[in-house]
Amino acid sequence: MCENSKLSSIGFFDKLALKWDSLHDLKALSEQLDSGLTKFGVTPDENILDVGCGTGNLTEAIIRKLSPLGKVSAVDLSKVMLDRAKVKVNDQRVNWHCGAVEEMDFAPATFDRIICYSVWPHLTDVKRIACLFHRWLKPGGKLHIWHTISRSAVNRIHSEASAAVNDHLLATAEQTASLLDHCGFSIEEMQDDDAGYLVTAKKV
Ligand SMILES: C[S@@+](CC[C@H](N)C(=O)[O-])C[C@H]1O[C@@H](n2cnc3c(N)ncnc32)[C@H](O)[C@@H]1O
Repeated sequence: MCENSKLSSIGFFDKLALKWDSLHDLKALSEQLDSGLTKFGVTPDENILDVGCGTGNLTEAIIRKLSPLGKVSAVDLSKVMLDRAKVKVNDQRVNWHCGAVEEMDFAPATFDRIICYSVWPHLTDVKRIACLFHRWLKPGGKLHIWHTISRSAVNRIHSEASAAVNDHLLATAEQTASLLDHCGFSIEEMQDDDAGYLVTAKKV
């Protein structure tokens, strides 16, 4: 990510952090996240990367699924988002990382699962990032690119928001799947309809 767009994203998300949770029905969201994670087949001892964790809503849902041996690395560009997440999810199994995910230095084959929940369109150079994710996953590990609203709703929200994100558009699931395929992933599931968006890919 170039320095200018990084600074503009940080400014945008630091400000959004102050009202992010008030824009959601957190009880309904936690039920949706719980049922999504069950559908993904999350098992108790997994090591999971939560990309763009924001105020920690998905992090909290992941923790509910894990045993004392499970772990989460939660990464976010915005310190204000992360500070809120740390208060919400005060749990030793979470390692917090402030910065752009593409600048993280995780060892190869670290994670069982990488989840990009409501963040993929904000990532720049997704081809490089997908290859990084491939490297950070264990063999057989899964990547989920996930939104619980439709692609058209995501793109409308972004195009009506500030200049910092108005070109952060979500590609079709087919296009995303093709990009992941080029990085060596095998595509397991695609959804791109009124109910939401999901591309699940496996490191083979
Ligand atoms: C729309 S919010 C979603 C937050 C959270 N996943 C949720 O759904 O509640 C997107 C988040 O991704 C973060 N983000 C954007 N670009 C990022 C990057 N390159 N690396 C890490 N986090 C990023 C933002 O700071 C923001 O907190």
